[in-house]
Amino acid sequence: MRKKIIAGNWKMNILPSETAALVKAIAEATKDYGNVDVVCCTPAIDIPAAVAACAGTAVQPGAENAHWEPSGAYTGEISTGMLADAGVKYCIIGHSERRQYFAETDETVNKRATAVIKAGLTAIVCVGETLAERDAGKVEEVIVRQMKEGLKGLSAVDAEKLVIAYEPVWAIGTGRTATPEQAQEVHALIRKVLGEMIGIDAAETVRIQYGGSMKPANAAELLAQKDIDGGLIGGAALKADSFAAIIAAAAK
Ligand code: PGA
Repeated sequence: MRKKIIAGNWKMNILPSETAALVKAIAEATKDYGNVDVVCCTPAIDIPAAVAACAGTAVQPGAENAHWEPSGAYTGEISTGMLADAGVKYCIIGHSERRQYFAETDETVNKRATAVIKAGLTAIVCVGETLAERDAGKVEEVIVRQMKEGLKGLSAVDAEKLVIAYEPVWAIGTGRTATPEQAQEVHALIRKVLGEMIGIDAAETVRIQYGGSMKPANAAELLAQKDIDGGLIGGAALKADSFAAIIAAAAK
C-alpha cells in the first residue's frame, strides 16, 4: 500500500512575506489527513519561511530545483547540501518548464536527481510528453526515454527517495486534464519501465504522481486509479482551500 503524496509546485509565485501564511493555512486545513504526505515545493527564496512555518506541522518543505555539484562557481544555482541544510525534504527535478525554458535535458535531470537522492532528499522527477508527441503516437517512446536516461544509474535502494510525476505537458496550466484512463495507462507504463530498471518489488513501492490541471473537481477520479499515488499541483496549490480539497480527496 503506497501512501498518497500531494505536492504543491508553487513555481514563481508567492512572495517570501506571503509564504508563512499560506503554509500555515494549508497545515491547518489538512491536519486531519495524516494518511497523506503533504509537501509544498516553493521558490528558493521562500524556503526559510516555508521551513519555519512547516515546523510542528505535517506539511513538508520542498524545493523546485537543485544543482548536481556540491559547491563551486555556478552563479545562480543552489546545491542539494544547501537545501538539506535549510531543512528541505523534497526537490522537484526535470519539470517540463525547466526542460522547455531552461535547456534541461534528460542528462541534466539525471545528474540533478542523483545528487538530490544522494543528499538524502526525496527527488520528485517529472516526465511527460508534449501535445505534438502525443499526436504523433510517441507517448511510450518519450516516457521510456525520459525514464531510462533521467533515472540512469539509480538502484532499488534509491527507490525510497524517489517520487515520479507524470505531467503531460499539454495539461499543465491549460485547464485540460488527462482522463483518468489516459493517465493510468502512462502510470502503468512508468511502473513497468521502473521495474525493468530497479526490480519489480522496488518499483511497486515508488509513488507516481499525476500533474497537469489537477483540481478539487477531478482529483478523486484520478486518484482512484491503481497506479496514481498522488498529485503534483500547480495553480490549485496556491490557495489553501483548493489544495486542501485535493488532499481531502487523496485521504479518502
Ligand atoms: P498545474 O501545474 O496544476 O497548474 O497544471 C502542474 C505542474 O506544472 O506541476
